[in-house]
Amino acid sequence: MSRIGIFYGSSSGVTKAVAEKIAQRLGEDRCDLFSMEEDFVDFDEMLDYDYLLLGCSTWGSGEVQNDWRDPLLDLDNDKPDFSGKTIAVFGAGDYVSHGEQFISALGILHDKFKARGATLVGSIPTDGYTYKYSFAERDGKFIGLGFDDVNEADKTDGRIDVWLAALEEHLPVAEEA
Ligand SMILES: Cc1cc2nc3c(=O)[nH]c(=O)nc-3n(C[C@H](O)[C@H](O)[C@H](O)COP(=O)(O)O)c2cc1C
Repeated sequence: MSRIGIFYGSSSGVTKAVAEKIAQRLGEDRCDLFSMEEDFVDFDEMLDYDYLLLGCSTWGSGEVQNDWRDPLLDLDNDKPDFSGKTIAVFGAGDYVSHGEQFISALGILHDKFKARGATLVGSIPTDGYTYKYSFAERDGKFIGLGFDDVNEADKTDGRIDVWLAALEEHLPVAEEA
């Protein structure tokens, strides 16, 4: 069975906590968890996986979390080949203080990896979210899982469950226990 690589960047721990929950819910025998800050060396380790879940919160005004900045520059420069890879993105935002760029980093990650040949999956309806603008919104959907633990932490668990249930058809089948 192919394993799933989960790579996350998180400054205050929100996206990290969700990455850990995702790993738990998928089953730790199915996935490996990497912090972009502590574990990421280069894209070769990502390319070991056919299935990748990439976590990144949004900072600045619609920018990627700090630990993704240099890797994304490398991605543009070195142009690693992600064709044949299935990727879904997730990340934290704050729709009250930053609703003009809500979870926009997901849109950046989506576009960068799509440009490298990956197949991006895991879009969700925007129903139930409030925001003014998001670079992660395409054709009326978010291109990945967004959550806002600053203002609506009570919704995050349910959002993870709905997202993973829909994502499962794109992931390698879990082995029978
Ligand atoms: C200076 C600053 C800028 C931010 N910019 C954005 C933004 O543009 N869009 C957004 O949705 N959230 C923004 N946020 C909110 C963070 O994404 C939010 O606090 C999130 O929970 C951080 O997740 P992390 O702990 O995984 O890094 C910003 C927060 C701060 C403090």
